Amino acid sequence: MTNAIIAEGLTRRFGSTQALDGLDLAVPEGSVMGLLGPNGSGKTTTVRVLSTLLRPDSGRAFVAGLDVLKDMVKLRRKIGLSGQYAAVDEDLTARENLRMVGKLYHLGTPEANRRSDELLERFGLGSEADRPVKGYSGGMRRRVDLACAVIARPEVLFLDEPTTGLDVRSRQALWDVIVELVGEGSTLLLTTQYLEEADKLSDRITVVDHGRIIAEGTPDQLKARVGSERLELTLASVEDLHAARRLLDRLAQGEVVTDEEEKQLVIPVEDGPEALVTAIRALDAEDVGPVGAGLRRPTLDEAFLILTEGSGTAAPPEPVDTTGERVGTAGKEGLR
Ligand SMILES: Nc1ncnc2c1ncn2[C@@H]1O[C@H](COP(=O)(O)OP(=O)(O)O)[C@@H](O)[C@H]1O
Ligand SMILES: [Mg+2]
Repeated sequence: MTNAIIAEGLTRRFGSTQALDGLDLAVPEGSVMGLLGPNGSGKTTTVRVLSTLLRPDSGRAFVAGLDVLKDMVKLRRKIGLSGQYAAVDEDLTARENLRMVGKLYHLGTPEANRRSDELLERFGLGSEADRPVKGYSGGMRRRVDLACAVIARPEVLFLDEPTTGLDVRSRQALWDVIVELVGEGSTLLLTTQYLEEADKLSDRITVVDHGRIIAEGTPDQLKARVGSERLELTLASVEDLHAARRLLDRLAQGEVVTDEEEKQLVIPVEDGPEALVTAIRALDAEDVGPVGAGLRRPTLDEAFLILTEGSGTAAPPEPVDTTGERVGTAGKEGLR
């Protein structure tokens, strides 16, 4: 298994901020790595180093077999990048932007044109494609920028928070294109603040905070640690709250949170719908009626609390993988 992206001990400081603090990555060819982390955790800095836009203070990185510090020019032809903020030519139309980028990648005019038309349709820009980008909404610009990043079917694609600000339809269109590219053998590094997005698209997820890795593993391994869903119950009184907690403790797949002020109980559960029904029945049998009940996915905050627990900021990264298998040796698992 060859790795399309390798990073070893990357560090980068901006003034007093340690943006990258010894970051390692290994992304097998043809797979999707989700880089998940809160604002300011070092995701964009990582992408900028790997796409040759920024020099690290120390460490090494290779992308598509090329050294990011020594083979910048060659490397740039092999990668596609869509940054966190859309970078498109305002005075050109969407179609002109795409055709230009296609030619810069040496696609040849007929192929650049054909591929531009195809992507404009896919990203729902067909009817707007011949207007200058400066009149576009933020979401539309984002779509043009993304189309530019994938036009040449790059070997390695970097997408930095690609769906931030996109509507549901464009998000789905982007996900479809991503799945297709990866099916054709591209490798993708995708940064996101959304656990759900990382879960949906990634073969493996690396969780970063303060420029270092705090967890890594397959989405299933991470979810098993975070708990798949939260059962949230609101009770009528504090007495009911404690009674409910006693009755439902056995459903918990992790730490139960009791909020006396809100009279709320949050229980991580495995099978959400089944747990909800079981909980309501158990409460009903004891005449402890909840005034509110629902299921929700864990928030990123909850995920981070759990994933950072015990690891501390000074501790070495804790691999999530229970088999002890590292990223670099993992087989390709395909997209779900
Ligand atoms: N050019 C820069 N100058 C100063 N500080 C920066 C610069 N780029 C990033 N940082 C800081 O480095 C940290 C990591 O930033 P970034 O990689 O953009 O995080 P993320 O993309 O995960 O939100 C943040 O604290 C950010 O403020
Ligand atoms: Mg960023």
